[in-house]
Amino acid sequence: MQKPTTEKRRFGIHPNLLHDIIHKQAGTLQKAILEAVMNSVDAGATRIDVSLDSNGVVIADDGKGFSSRKEIEEFFETFGTPHVEGDATYGRFRMGRGQCFSFGINHWETKRFRMRVDVKKDGLDYDLEESAESAPDAQRSMFDAGNDAFYDGCRIRIDLYNKLLPSELSEVERELRAWVAWVSVPIHLNGVLTSEDPAKAKWTSETDDAYFKLTANRSVLTVYNQGVHVMNAPASRYGIGGFVVSKHRLDVNFARNDVQNTCPVFKRIKAHLAKHSAEGSKTTRKLTETQKTHLARQIVSCDIDWQTASKISLITDVDGKSISLDGLRSRFYQTHEMISAPRGDRTAIKVGQMHMAIPIAQETLDRFDVKDVQSLIAVLLRFAKRSAKQHQNWYARYLADCLEKAVPKTLEDYRHLVNATYSAVAPKDLSPGRRKLLSTASKASSVISDALSKPYRRVHAGSSEVALAWTDGVRDIWIDQNTIPMMSLGYQGCARFAALMLHEYMHDGPDTETHEHDAEFYENFHDAAVHSDVIGKAATAMMRHMASMARSEGAKPTDRVLLFEDNEETLVRAGAKGSEPTGSDEAEQDDQDPSVLKAA
Ligand SMILES: Nc1ncnc2c1ncn2[C@@H]1O[C@H](COP(=O)(O)OP(=O)(O)OP(=O)(O)O)[C@@H](O)[C@H]1O
Ligand SMILES: [Mg+2]
Repeated sequence: MQKPTTEKRRFGIHPNLLHDIIHKQAGTLQKAILEAVMNSVDAGATRIDVSLDSNGVVIADDGKGFSSRKEIEEFFETFGTPHVEGDATYGRFRMGRGQCFSFGINHWETKRFRMRVDVKKDGLDYDLEESAESAPDAQRSMFDAGNDAFYDGCRIRIDLYNKLLPSELSEVERELRAWVAWVSVPIHLNGVLTSEDPAKAKWTSETDDAYFKLTANRSVLTVYNQGVHVMNAPASRYGIGGFVVSKHRLDVNFARNDVQNTCPVFKRIKAHLAKHSAEGSKTTRKLTETQKTHLARQIVSCDIDWQTASKISLITDVDGKSISLDGLRSRFYQTHEMISAPRGDRTAIKVGQMHMAIPIAQETLDRFDVKDVQSLIAVLLRFAKRSAKQHQNWYARYLADCLEKAVPKTLEDYRHLVNATYSAVAPKDLSPGRRKLLSTASKASSVISDALSKPYRRVHAGSSEVALAWTDGVRDIWIDQNTIPMMSLGYQGCARFAALMLHEYMHDGPDTETHEHDAEFYENFHDAAVHSDVIGKAATAMMRHMASMARSEGAKPTDRVLLFEDNEETLVRAGAKGSEPTGSDEAEQDDQDPSVLKAA
């Protein structure tokens, strides 16, 4: 039998693969131009000119160009020739020029050489023209007849395969400007200087690794690799928004639109960002959603110390209240059950009020990047356990114990326990006292509708386990029958009731299903409550209404109503104008008097 033979073989690469790589790595024209600009910087250019119109683009530089045929063979003709460490600022893969090829016919002019590449027509073949000497008249190009500029550096003209529409042209220009913003070599785009040396600019901080312009107000962190744009990351990823320009090379991915996790320079940059974000969250009283998300993610990855993490309020409950880990621990005194629900869900709010479960707003889950309460409990538990172990912290230990006992539930588990229905109660079913108070509430409604210039809303009695009052947002307001007696608690009770009515007037739609209030709602409510005297006016009108109602029936007003009248009278005798808005002098005279307080 013949012995089998073994030989060393080598894998080959089909030219089609290269063709594919050239085309598939190409993102956009602006990306391709950026590749050429980076090559110019690598070639040591001191000035780079880019001119662009709808037909094509020219990138010209005064760098070292290609001086020999050997260089062209090794670096222009061959893809993937390795770099020697430190020989280039940006160049890594010896692939980038392929992006320029894929957008149009390329004419490269450099010293004695001209290259013409047309991948669409010629595939991987290209023309190379070599002149004997690098004299201007020897530079007349067969590809570029009529252009007598001779290039000692390198000049690339790309005749686009697809002409640009005006909107595309301006987008290319706009993005390119943003992407080369901090390249230290001056870059002119259609004659306008578009780059700035970062060493000469103003920054909020600077380290050996990078320049930083950081702000809590920007939702994006834009990262530049030695002046060239790499990515726009959501600020939540690093805890802060703004701009970072690295001084040293970042390890970027092949598409140059992300930084590798292992990059040592970026690791230090991230540490600097984290420091800033943490300082920001200590000094700003109210955290932005970006900061909250960032800090929550740090808890998930156990990248934050217990002392900081336990004090900041990263958990939002369905009522919109923010809870810290310390606060969460104390909520476990009442119940170990936890649910999540949309913020403002009436049933969930009630479940919380009755201490049946801790109701977490759904947005909290997004913040911690978990899909349900069970996973939230798991990530918090892991963090608490680790902190308890690392810092021998008793509070962390206690929270871990609570979380171990925590029971994830769903809102559905409680629906049968909480009656979230709203029903109207007919006046005949109310006690006579409550019926009269309801007409007082109508008084408040008319004062408020006048003050807000909104259509009047009728006031009815109702019955609900989950709301003190509710509205259809247009014509009617219902008051839970057990809330009605609030009005009999004197001026203070009426003021509170008027605030409740004002709140209902602020809802321009039904507030029965969810009782959600956005920032605009609170702003409007605040403006009406603080910057006008609508609550005081309504409360006063209610008190007077109760007095006259009693007298018209030949009855004696209640003691609280009489006290209110006495106070008003005393003020009138002292020269003040009763309950009408008063000047600040009167307010200072007797700040115990509620009728004056409301006017101040
Ligand atoms: N403007 C230029 N001046 C001089 N040489 C250039 C110029 N543009 C490209 N080259 C040469 O061509 C080579 C290939 O460029 P290409 O962009 O394809 O790869 P790279 O820059 O080395 O790496 P990367 O793929 O990361 O961009 C460069 O390494 C450089 O030697
Ligand atoms: Mg390159």
